[in-house]
Parts: sequence; C-alpha cells; structure tokens
Amino acid sequence: MRSIIFIISCLLAFSCSNKYKDIKNTEADYQIIPKPNKLSIENGRFLVNPNTKIIFTSPLSNEAAYLSEMLSTVSGINIALDSSSKDAAGNIKLLLDEQIDNAEGYRLSVKYDEVVIAGKTNAGVFYGIQSLRQLLPAEIEATNSIAELTIPAVEISDSPRYKYRGMHLDVGRNFFPAESVKDYIDLIAMHKMNTFHWHLTEDQGWRIEIKKYPKLTEVGGFRKGTAIGLAGTRNAPYTYDDVPYGGFYTQEEIKEIVAYAAARHITVIPEIELPGHSLAALTAYPQFGNTGGPYEVAKRWGIFKEVYAPTEETFQFLEDVLTEVMALFPSKYIHIGGDEVLKEEWEKSAYAQELIKKEGLGDEHGLQSYFIRRIEKFLNSKGRNIIGWDEILEGGLAPNATVMSWRGEEGGIAAAKQHHTVIMTPGTHCYFDYYQVPEELQKDEPLTGSKRHTTVEKVYSYDPTPAELNAEEAKYILGAQGNVWTEYMPTWDIVEYRVIPRMTALAEVVWTDKENKSWEDFYQRLQHIAKRYDVLGYNYAKHSVGE
Ligand code: ACM
Repeated sequence: MRSIIFIISCLLAFSCSNKYKDIKNTEADYQIIPKPNKLSIENGRFLVNPNTKIIFTSPLSNEAAYLSEMLSTVSGINIALDSSSKDAAGNIKLLLDEQIDNAEGYRLSVKYDEVVIAGKTNAGVFYGIQSLRQLLPAEIEATNSIAELTIPAVEISDSPRYKYRGMHLDVGRNFFPAESVKDYIDLIAMHKMNTFHWHLTEDQGWRIEIKKYPKLTEVGGFRKGTAIGLAGTRNAPYTYDDVPYGGFYTQEEIKEIVAYAAARHITVIPEIELPGHSLAALTAYPQFGNTGGPYEVAKRWGIFKEVYAPTEETFQFLEDVLTEVMALFPSKYIHIGGDEVLKEEWEKSAYAQELIKKEGLGDEHGLQSYFIRRIEKFLNSKGRNIIGWDEILEGGLAPNATVMSWRGEEGGIAAAKQHHTVIMTPGTHCYFDYYQVPEELQKDEPLTGSKRHTTVEKVYSYDPTPAELNAEEAKYILGAQGNVWTEYMPTWDIVEYRVIPRMTALAEVVWTDKENKSWEDFYQRLQHIAKRYDVLGYNYAKHSVGE
C-alpha cells in the first residue's frame, strides 16, 4: 500500500513538474540583491513538492538544515534531508566543488526538475541558498504556508568582489539586547555580508563581561543618566535625563551570538577601545588612568580627555582583558580602536613623559604608536592580528596592523601604499548614523547629531578601491563596512531605520563587480527587496525606496 501511494505521488509530482517545464520567465522573476555577477534567465520552474528532498554531503549538514527549515516553513511540506543519495533528479542538491575559484563563490542551477547549489566552501553554498531565497516570493519570510512554491529556472555563477563585507554596531552609547544583535546578524547574512564588527566598549558603557575584572560591567556597564537631545552640539547646553541606564552581554550570551553568526558564515570581530574611549573602564578601575580619578561613566557624547596610562599595570590589565576576549571570539582580527586619543593627560603625566624619553618616542603621537605596537605584539603572539582606526598611522603603523579608514580615504590610501591591509569606512559614504535626506527634509526625521547626510544613492556610488592606488596597492583593500554609531539611536527601530536600505546598497558595493552595477537597476530591485523587509517587519526608511 505504501509503495502504491509512493508511485502515485511520484507520478503526480512528475506531471506537476512537467506542467512547470515550459513556463516563460522574465527579468522580473530575478530580483536578487546583491546582484549576481553572472545570471542567465532560463525557462521553466521547479515545484517544491512532497517528494522534494535536500540531497547533501555531510560537511553541508548545517546548510541543508537551514534550507530545509526555510522551505518547510513556507511550503507547509516537510522537506526531508538525505545524505545518502547522489542523484539530484527531482530534488535540491547541495555540494562542494573544488573547481569554483573564489572561496565564497557559488553556482546555482535551477531547472524544472532539479536544483543544484555548489560552493567552493560551505559559505558559497550558504550564499547560493540566499540567492535561492530571493527567487522565492517575499511572503516566504512569514510563516504562513504557500500552496505552490516554485523557483524560476536560472543559471547563476557568482562570487564577491571583496573579501571583507562588514557591518558595525556601537552598543556602548546605546545598548541592545542579544535578540536584537541576532536580528542584525540575520540581516547581514541575507545580504551576503560576512563580518559583524561589534563595538563593545565606550566612554558611555562597557558591554562585555570580563571575569577577572567584574567591575568593568558592574560599574562600567552603567551610567547615571543620558544627555537629552542635541546637548553639547550646535552650542546647545547639556541637560541630562538622570535616568540610570546600562547593560552588558554575559560571556554565555556572547558565545551564543558568535555561534549564531558562524552558522550564517559571519565572523564577529570584537572591538576593545584603547587607549582612548576608555572612561567606563577607568571608572571601574581608576588605577589604570593617568590621574587616579575620580572618573564617571560618561553621560554625554563626544571625545573625552581621559585615556589609559601607559604603565605596566595597564598593559597587564589590557592583556588579561584581551585574553578573555580571544577565548570568546575565534576571529583572526581583534579591533583595538585607537581613534580620537586626546594627548592632554599624557602631556601632563610625569610617567608618560619619562617613558617617551626612555623609549625615544619623540612625542605623544609616538607614545600612541608605542601603545598600539605593544598591544599588537601581544595579540600577534597569540596568533591574532589587529585592526585599528586610521589614527594608528600617527607616529608609525604597528608592523602587521590593518587600518580601518574612517576620516575619509586618506588613511586607507596611505596604509595601502605602505602595504598594510585596509578596510574602507569613510564617513562620507559609510556612516549610517548620518541623516539620509538633505537638510530641508531633516526636520521630519528622527534626530541625529550632525546635519551631514548620506543618501542611499550616494552609498551605492561608493567604490572602495581608490583610483589613486596602482594595481599592486589596490590588493591591500580588503573591502568596506557600514558603521552604525548609536548616540542618536535610542531604540532598535531607529537602528533599523538608519541601516536599511543603506546597507542594502553597501552589500552590492562590496559584492557586485563594478561593471555589473547600475543605480537604476539596483533601485528597481530595491522595490522588490523592500516587500521582503515589509514581511519581515523591518522599520526601514521607506522614503529611500521611493515610497
Ligand atoms: C570613529 O568614528 N571615531 C571611528
């Protein structure tokens, strides 16, 4: 009886899939962001049916389970996993293919009677799945079932332009719970980006549990209030809400987030700011400052004169902190900040001045370089590399450092010319805390700290490889990243609003080859992905997609 049912269902499936064999597809059926580098439109559609299985080899069990869950949830059909069959006929097959050039490259072949996703690595297969996802209707993003789920036939051969495709999030100024961070990771994954730069320590709050120094979070994780409105900017006076504010991630939460990201082929790079932006840490442990304090976790935004003292005790403290950080984050890179270090305290410190003389550092810029080089040496000895903001060029770059260029592209250009790897994040194109509309329209927007603005079209126009670099130097540009400083993002809704769709544009900047990019074509595809954002419930900037 079972075999008769099986035969009947196979026949039904065959006649159904036959019905889909000759369907004509049009450009409108292929609305993928970032745009695949090679895509050929084919006729026919694959019907996800009760006999569809996902055939895979065991290294791909994670990707197979991810795809099965995605398709089962929306089709209402339980899509079985099968790691013993070989033949793709009638099924969806995931495989690894050594022949694919790029470590993140993939091929997606959809025919009316089979689907094959091949990747050089698991990451490639995952990106193939993300492309498949965007070939399905936006409604799949909700849990309600779709009666006839079909995939338009296609041949895609695709790989990213850049190795580093990042999004940053500052959780120091405002704190967001682990669930929001996971939502952010999902968003990054959907856009085939591969790095989450987690800015974990700030003047206004220390957000990562460090077991050896519990006061970092107990004391440094909380402030007594927060500046209201535009306090301190545009000559507005400081006023505070006097509402205690804070929070931090436990090491257990961090492990969970790192694993969640890894399952989506996203590396989490932690940032532990030094020697500046350290007021929260100094409030917890004043002995590592230049003055002994007293200090107070910052309640307002801006740059503070308080920085770490360059003493042996401070270096020991930082090495202890970084040791716990390395145990939580397997990333090759650890971001050590290095930006906006005011030199006033070192100028006045007898200890710092003595050290400058003793080590022949010249001045406080040399001391900053000494500070970074010592930390680099420690991290290199543990097999890790540092990334720092472009100020780490001052006084000489640490030997193996990667530079994150934020004050325009100049720092990145200088570093690439010195044969140091670079990640481009210039404020002009990659700062998503700026308004996304010109000044005359800003009064209708959620408040932000500066009148500067970056439209989605401007983000899209960005080319992370500056024309000034020759071909050899250009190889040092690893990619680009969108930065999300949260002084003026008190809620997660506002984070989403600022980020989407500017990150959508940046995703294409870092993935799609220059010759395959077109603003008009992107803008048209943006309308489609916006429907997906609607179903997912994201609070994106609708005016930026033309609504
Ligand atoms: C920065 O925006 N201070 C890196």
